Amino acid sequence: MKLWGGRFSAKTATNIDSFNSSLKFDFALYPYDIKGSIVHVKMLARQDIISETDKAKIIAGLNKVKEKLDQAQKNNRIPWKAEDIHTLIEQLLTEEIGEIAGKMHTARSRNDQVALDIRLYLREQIDILEEGIKRLILLFCQLAEDHLETVLPGFTHLQPAQPVTLAHHLLAHAQRFKRDLERLQDCRERVNICPLGSGALATTTFPIDREWVAKELGFNSVSQNSLDTVGARDFLLEFHHCLVSFSLNLSSLAEEIIIWNSPEYNFIELADTVATGSSIMPQKKNPDIAELIRAKTGRIAGNYQQLALVIKGLPLAYNKDLQEDKESLFDSIATIKEILKVLPDFLQGINFNKEKMAESLSRGFLNATELADYISKQGLPFRQAHELAGKAVNYAIAENKDLTELKLRDFKSIFPDHKEIFKADLLEKLKPLSAVKNRHITGGPAPAAVTKQLQGLKAKVQDK
Ligand code: ARG
Repeated sequence: MKLWGGRFSAKTATNIDSFNSSLKFDFALYPYDIKGSIVHVKMLARQDIISETDKAKIIAGLNKVKEKLDQAQKNNRIPWKAEDIHTLIEQLLTEEIGEIAGKMHTARSRNDQVALDIRLYLREQIDILEEGIKRLILLFCQLAEDHLETVLPGFTHLQPAQPVTLAHHLLAHAQRFKRDLERLQDCRERVNICPLGSGALATTTFPIDREWVAKELGFNSVSQNSLDTVGARDFLLEFHHCLVSFSLNLSSLAEEIIIWNSPEYNFIELADTVATGSSIMPQKKNPDIAELIRAKTGRIAGNYQQLALVIKGLPLAYNKDLQEDKESLFDSIATIKEILKVLPDFLQGINFNKEKMAESLSRGFLNATELADYISKQGLPFRQAHELAGKAVNYAIAENKDLTELKLRDFKSIFPDHKEIFKADLLEKLKPLSAVKNRHITGGPAPAAVTKQLQGLKAKVQDK
């Protein structure tokens, strides 16, 4: 069946038909297409555009068509040929109820229909992804709760910088994911607008009730410009961006897991259940899962770019180019869902090596800033304090010691002109745990500040 053909006298060539068809991928939209059609038909009857009897026949027929499509999906085989899912549904409906099926398409075009389907589908997917990201954030909160006082080096330039807590470090990732969540929630606002009624490009002369349809389908509002509506896919591009950002954050997390798992760092050990081996080197325990998560970013970013190039330079309003908006979208969603499924198990298979973390605190002079702050608090300008602390580091290097191993008398002898500055409390302040605990302002790594941070994150993901 074709939804057009009145003005054609010859049949379309087979290879042209098959190139033109989107059925093999837009079949996935059938539940949304049927849902939209049922509401559309109800509205047509409410507005006296079709009769109540026709409405009842069409809806009963659509429910039967849905059963057939469900079965085909279950069998993972589409036994029909059609230009797209919209055509197929009308074709199957015609087989069920005859010519009356043709009334379903009154005051509607496939252009606003496909825009509706994709918005309904995406809204549902966003809700699923949001739940997954919330669960991920919650897992990070749970992991952090056990490590409020586990101290490890924080890094800048991948060089040991200052001590932080593992909880603070884990929640840094959670904060990124929280922003990813918020971006998705914000994107949902622009997805959740009803396009139906825009027609092919210029609405319709039938007295339809767009607002009623929008409400029935759970949309927040109706779109305001029909030309814009049928040609717009920027809401999809925005969604792709949300996934790119999320996957970039995931790749950063994956990269850290890979680094921390290396024998050089040895900050974590992967449980056998989540690690992989080498076919030649018997000693290997590899972080394949983290590497794959890191790599899948390429795919997600590629899909963003694919859509961006499809919509570039398209004239108003609908162009068939827009049919190419689907496969990349489905692929990115499937990829992220797969990651969200495996990541919690993978994270739970990580054992944190607290001893190794503590041990590495004694290398790299992570408390040099504490020393500079200490000197500066005694009244010296920070620049001068920084200079003096640097000298102390030099001294310790020459002595092959860490700053915490120096005695008070060492400091007094390094700085004979500033002897009075160094008091007994200095040595305590230089200890990594003290350094962390003294950073208790908002955003800091101190257990008290992190506990507050945890509350904020939990409140965010446990809302509703
Ligand atoms: N399969 C098409 C798509 O995905 C549906 C809309 C077709 N509209 C048209 N005027 N040919 O975009």
